[in-house]
Amino acid sequence: MKTINNMKNILSTLLLAPLLAFSITASASEEVHLDKAPVDASNHESLQRGARTFVNYCLNCHSANYMRYNRLLEIGLTEQQIKDNLLFAGEKVGDTMKVAMNKKEAAKWLGAAPPDLSVEVRARGADWVYSYMRGFYRDSTRPTGWNNTVFDKVGMPHVLYELQGEQELNHETHELKLVKPGLLSVEEYDAVVGDLTNFMAYMAEPAKQQRNQLGWIVLLFLSVLLVLTYKLKKAYWMTLYSGTTDPYSHRCRIVLFEKGMDFQVIDVDLANKPEDLAVINPYNQVPVLVERDLVLSEANIINEYIDERFPHPQLMPPDPVMRARARLFLYSFEKDLFSHIADIESGDDQKADKARATIRDNLTQLVPIFSKQNYLLGDDYSMLDVAVTPLLWRLGHYGIELPNQAAPILKYAERLFSRPLYSDAMTPSEKAMRK
Ligand code: HEC
Repeated sequence: MKTINNMKNILSTLLLAPLLAFSITASASEEVHLDKAPVDASNHESLQRGARTFVNYCLNCHSANYMRYNRLLEIGLTEQQIKDNLLFAGEKVGDTMKVAMNKKEAAKWLGAAPPDLSVEVRARGADWVYSYMRGFYRDSTRPTGWNNTVFDKVGMPHVLYELQGEQELNHETHELKLVKPGLLSVEEYDAVVGDLTNFMAYMAEPAKQQRNQLGWIVLLFLSVLLVLTYKLKKAYWMTLYSGTTDPYSHRCRIVLFEKGMDFQVIDVDLANKPEDLAVINPYNQVPVLVERDLVLSEANIINEYIDERFPHPQLMPPDPVMRARARLFLYSFEKDLFSHIADIESGDDQKADKARATIRDNLTQLVPIFSKQNYLLGDDYSMLDVAVTPLLWRLGHYGIELPNQAAPILKYAERLFSRPLYSDAMTPSEKAMRK
């Protein structure tokens, strides 16, 4: 069924989406060796320590214009703590982290202006920043006296050298060696830089943690919803028990397709009816429509029900007078045309010939209608057209030949057969009836 295929497509797209997202983030690469930064947005103590280092050592030169002090409330600091420990004179808790130094002055003094660090981690990556802050070494050829393994000829001096001490680079092995110890041991210094990087990563994407979590919740929610809607849809799906060559079942299939409905067709071999058909429908006849606990038989009853439940496009006329006329018409089709089909199929030649003649004459009486209009009820396709279509399709199959003056009926029949969904509504055996 086409609907089931659609569901499969939706399902596979949903399942692929997270994979696609991961493959995009995994593609960045670096030439310089970088150490892994211990980034953990849920570690509030680390973030608080990092914030302190950042404010004390970096804001002298760098700004963080997209970061407000009051955001630090999110990582567990109180307003008082922020005021007492992190604000410079005259700053308020709602302010952004502005640079304490004049940019032009800094550029003159350092040869380069210190960039804003709000989103530095997003630009360079956490590992880069972590390695950079641990990669300063003494270089007498540089104006500041410092160089960096990650950022060659850097303009920034080693602002944490009191903590780390002084390193020298072995130009052959490209390894750093601590030549003058600082206030901290190597491990302690790495931890300070780790916290600092963690804070800078948090600053670059303060909402990252929530966003990741939210993403997973949304995906989970969507898949649960998908399963539920699929089950619901299956429960609401209409099922039509339909005879593969039965003209009445053919009518119902036409209506279901005209309405563009999702439904399931169960093909019933009329010569060999399944047992459950008699259980569902005491008359043991097709077509039968089952929708949850509603069981309908009789093609016209089924079709009117479908038309009322799914009103677009409407097949019965909206106005009561016209609708009553349409029902009368439908009734006369049963009496004058369809009730004789059983005789054609009875195997009794005499009966069959008589039935063929009756159908032929009654059909021919419809000719004048088509001198003025395209369809039986006017210029719009309606339930009456649905009702006669299966008979017109089977004329040759039943051995009914229309006289010459009935040519407008054959033209009308071609109009019916060329409707867009008409051939979808047929079974293979029906298609084979007319070649
Ligand atoms: C004395 C002023 C000064 C201080 C204090 C300072 N920096 Fe810098 N920083 C600079 C300058 C100048 C540059 C630009 C270097 C260049 O472009 O050559 C820079 C560049 C950087 C960069 C590289 C930016 C890029 O992507 O090009 C990072 C990362 C950085 N600083 C981090 C920090 C951190 C973290 C601190 C605090 C621990 C800090 N800086 C303290 C002056 C400073």
